Amino acid sequence: MTTDAVVTTRGLTKRFGRVTAVDDLDLEVRRGEIYAFLGRNGAGKTTTIRMILGLIRPLAGEVRVFGEPVRSGRPEWLRRVGCLVETATAYPNLTVRENLELHRRLTGAPARAVANVIEQLGLGDAAERRAGQLSLGNKQRLGLARALVHAPDLLVLDEPANGLDPAGIVEIRGLLRSLADDHGTTVFVSSHILVEVAHLADRIGIVHEGRLVEELDRAALVAAARAFSAAQLTEQQRADALLTLELERYFLARTDGSVR
Ligand SMILES: Nc1ncnc2c1ncn2[C@@H]1O[C@H](COP(=O)(O)OP(=O)(O)O)[C@@H](O)[C@H]1O
Ligand SMILES: [Mg+2]
Repeated sequence: MTTDAVVTTRGLTKRFGRVTAVDDLDLEVRRGEIYAFLGRNGAGKTTTIRMILGLIRPLAGEVRVFGEPVRSGRPEWLRRVGCLVETATAYPNLTVRENLELHRRLTGAPARAVANVIEQLGLGDAAERRAGQLSLGNKQRLGLARALVHAPDLLVLDEPANGLDPAGIVEIRGLLRSLADDHGTTVFVSSHILVEVAHLADRIGIVHEGRLVEELDRAALVAAARAFSAAQLTEQQRADALLTLELERYFLARTDGSVR
C-alpha cells in the first residue's frame, strides 16, 4: 500500500449463490486522482462499490479507506466520503432543497453548502420541487448534489452519468475534473461506457467477471490507442474521435465483447 492510497482493496471477493460477483480484486485509488472503474453490466462494479462503502460484507478480502478498515456507522468517516450508488436515494416528499438541507445537517456542513451545491449542479429551477417528482436527470443531479454537499475528500460514484443527457454528462465531467484539480478530491467513478471516462480519468481499471483485467493510466490509454492506429493525426477533434473509437475496440477486446 502506498502512503497516498485513499481506497485499497486486497483479495476482495463476493459471491451471490453460484455467481462470483467480485473475484479476488486488488485495487488502489490514490489521493487526488480520478479513477474510473469500467466494466460491462454485471461485471461487479456496484458490488465492489457497496463493499468499499461498507454497505455489504465481503466474503473474503479487505477494504481500507483512508488507511483504515471499513466499518459501518462511523460518522467521522462518513463526513469524509460522498457517495452515489445506483438509483439515487432521496425522500420523495421532501423538496430538493429540503433533502440537501437534511443531509447537510447530518454531516455538519456549513449552511451555505446547500445553495452552493444547488448552483453547482444546475438544480436552481428544481430546488423547490419534491424529489419524487423529478425527471431522471434531475434525480441523478440531486444524488450527486447530496454526495457533494459536505465537500468530502473522497467521492464514490456508481454510474453517475445514468439518466443524464449528453450535455449533462459533459457538465458533470467538468465538475468532477475541477473537484479533483482544484480541491484535491479523490474520485472513484464507475461506468459501462468508455467514452464517458476516457477523457476524464487519470486511470482506468477494466473489470470483467469480477476481476481487474487491466489498469491503464493516461499515457497507456493514449499509447494503446496509437498502437491500433495506423494514421498519424494532427487535427485535435479527429484525434479525439479516433482515440475514442479505438479505445472502445480495446475495451471490448479485453472483455470478450464483439469488436465491430
Ligand atoms: N443482491 C444480489 N443477489 C444476487 N446476485 C447479485 C446481487 N447483486 C449483484 N448480483 C450479481 O452479481 C454480478 C455483478 O453485479 P453488479 O455488481 O451489480 O455488476 P455491475 O454493477 O458491474 O453491473 C451480476 O451477475 C449480478 O447479477
Ligand atoms: Mg452496477
